[in-house]
Amino acid sequence: MSEFRALVLREADGKVSAQIERLPETALPDGEVIIDVEYSTLNYKDGLILKGLGRLVRKYPHVPGVDFAGRVSLSTTPEYKPGDAVLLTGWRVGELHWGGFAEKARVKASQLVRLPQGLMTKRAMAVGTAGFTAMLAVMALEEHGLKPGAGEVLVTGAAGGLGSVGVALLAKLGHAVVASTGRAETHDYLKALGAQGIIDRASLAQVPTRPLDSERWAGAIDAVGSTTLATVLTQLKYNASAAACGLAGGNDLPTTVLPFLLRGVNLLGIDSVMCPKPRREAAWARIVRDLPMDKLDAMTSVVPLSELPELASEILKGSTRGRVVVDTRA
Ligand SMILES: NC(=O)c1ccc[n+]([C@@H]2O[C@H](COP(=O)([O-])OP(=O)(O)OC[C@H]3O[C@@H](n4cnc5c(N)ncnc54)[C@H](OP(=O)(O)O)[C@@H]3O)[C@@H](O)[C@H]2O)c1
Repeated sequence: MSEFRALVLREADGKVSAQIERLPETALPDGEVIIDVEYSTLNYKDGLILKGLGRLVRKYPHVPGVDFAGRVSLSTTPEYKPGDAVLLTGWRVGELHWGGFAEKARVKASQLVRLPQGLMTKRAMAVGTAGFTAMLAVMALEEHGLKPGAGEVLVTGAAGGLGSVGVALLAKLGHAVVASTGRAETHDYLKALGAQGIIDRASLAQVPTRPLDSERWAGAIDAVGSTTLATVLTQLKYNASAAACGLAGGNDLPTTVLPFLLRGVNLLGIDSVMCPKPRREAAWARIVRDLPMDKLDAMTSVVPLSELPELASEILKGSTRGRVVVDTRA
């Protein structure tokens, strides 16, 4: 019987611990397609799951990893055949269902996306859930009228995974990107990704004292939430939009309705997890078209499964930079 390596979370006395184990293929959950996973990634949500936080996992033992890319090894549907290159993000894989921090995964065929032409599995995971979400945010901003030349577009949590991809995408599309970061040592990195300006995240982090501030942003991608997003709303230009993607700074939103009523601004909710398949495919096609691969490579580090428990603490502290790809076979 073929065995595979997986990072397994087990719970004892309310504490969650992670170790690499060898599992038989029969341990895989139900599903129509078995995938030889080549790469997965570390996202903020993986950090929470690896540390047993956020009540995201209900049943242990559990294999985390909210995204993966690899090749089909077995399929019971005609849609996929062995050797097909596929990727998966979301659908609560890695939280309710076993995920991608393993050499094998079994999922529903409907949850898979064919690897778009021009993208290898490693780069697909360099994008991963965080980068895919940044693409969804750009698409939503465009659908609400954002055009190059409209003015400065803000990205918060810019040196993180979602933020880094957001900066690179917006810059490539011709926007004047301003990156908000709390880390001075990432300024050169963010400029290399295409940021024209940088602001200290502390300048957005206070509870807004006025319901409306001076109009500055033609659009915004926000990975932080809380007082940061509340401040951004007070600074959006007339009719401009902010895409709410994350909660790295908190899940509250201490705002008023005045920016909506007096400036007609839009708050756009971005969800990557249950995003319908046609929009997923459209977003991946846009990623191939609009994300410069040299910038993607520059923001990516590759780690083995064994480093994940330590890196989970780092990503929750906000101290990882860019995207972290997991080589499941290393
Ligand atoms: N909506 C969705 O479907 C979806 C999908 C993916 C991710 N997300 C969310 O998006 C966020 C970013 O995810 P990620 O994987 O890119 O995580 P990440 O790599 O850790 O990036 C988050 C960044 O936020 C900043 N940050 C961290 N703590 C902060 C704090 N207390 N106050 C202000 N800024 C802080 C840091 O950037 P600087 O050092 O540059 O300031 C950090 O690098 C997370 O909240 C995640 O849950 C949502």
